[in-house]
Amino acid sequence: MPPKARIVGTGHYLPPLVRTNADLAKMVDTSDDWIQERTGIRERRIAPPEICTSDMAAAAAESALKMAGLTAKDLDMIIVGTVTGDMPMPATAVFVQQKLGAVNIPSFDISAACAGFIYGLSIADNFIRAGAMKHILVIGVELLSRVIDWEDRGTCVLFGDGAGAVIVGPADSTPVERPRGILSTKIMSDGSLARSLMIPGGGSVTPASKEVIDEKLHKVKMKGQDIFKAAVKNLYSASRDAVEEAGMRPDDVDWICPHQANLRIINQAVERLGVPKEKVLVNIDKVGNTSSASIPILLDQSLRAGTIKEGQTVLMCALGAGISWGSALIRV
Ligand code: ACO
Repeated sequence: MPPKARIVGTGHYLPPLVRTNADLAKMVDTSDDWIQERTGIRERRIAPPEICTSDMAAAAAESALKMAGLTAKDLDMIIVGTVTGDMPMPATAVFVQQKLGAVNIPSFDISAACAGFIYGLSIADNFIRAGAMKHILVIGVELLSRVIDWEDRGTCVLFGDGAGAVIVGPADSTPVERPRGILSTKIMSDGSLARSLMIPGGGSVTPASKEVIDEKLHKVKMKGQDIFKAAVKNLYSASRDAVEEAGMRPDDVDWICPHQANLRIINQAVERLGVPKEKVLVNIDKVGNTSSASIPILLDQSLRAGTIKEGQTVLMCALGAGISWGSALIRV
């Protein structure tokens, strides 16, 4: 099936504060060597207190709109993938809508953790494919530094803050041999691993209370190895499926733009796919794991740097809490 939707603009925002591995080694029992060897991370960005999630999302969106040559008035919908929204209610997307000056359009959040951007992209593709909408803003944004236990060395070394955004618009309808656009998307969840990565307090199961705070149930809890194994397996299978659905082989893809969770996860999944490492885009050393923001940040950086060139294919894949995962193959 020819693509109906295409990414017509990208943008990202990274907060100014840099926290290095050496900084973390002063806070918990860890070392630069351990973090680099086990994760590939050297430093991450941290949002200052005056910045909230929708501020970062709106900044990334402004940049994507500019690249697309559009304004907020051209948008038909706003989808925000985040698990660290401004507040539990309402959706972060409505704050983004208000900050951008977009009016009377559906705006909502998706809770699919690190896969939130891919979920949003898949939904946007399908709305445009159905002919229901023309321009959809899809954002991945996380302010994880506010929900991390900075005394837990097993999680605090991994995450960073940031936002990435894309504008999805109509694909060119002129038939060509290698059409530009979203070629295929896959999204999936497995609730049997729901408790492997969670923020257990503050919801209907354990509402906010003094005990929740005292026991740090409002902070991220993770079984790292469960996530690691599931990530390698599912990133591989979702990537393979997205490529096959487009009638291609993994090695035909020009670039892989994977979720930046851990360099070892990326390397193992890509090795299984049989794609050379030279085709893999990486920025985890500089930004850490920014969850749903990681793919749109890396995509935008790689497009603006000229690494990804017009006409090339890019395979994106992500897995996170849920566990939820997905992939998308695009030709830019
Ligand atoms: N510094 C030093 N030592 C540490 C640190 C640290 N920061 N963290 C853990 N260790 C120790 C452990 O305590 C353990 O010590 P022990 O053997 O004395 O008990 C030892 O290192 C090994 O711990 P493991 O958990 O087995 O280490 P592993 O190689 O699995 O690496 C990691 C841990 C990096 C968390 C890895 O499991 C991982 O990356 N998992 C995936 C996590 C992930 O990607 N999560 C996010 C995806 S979802 C999302 O993005 C929202």
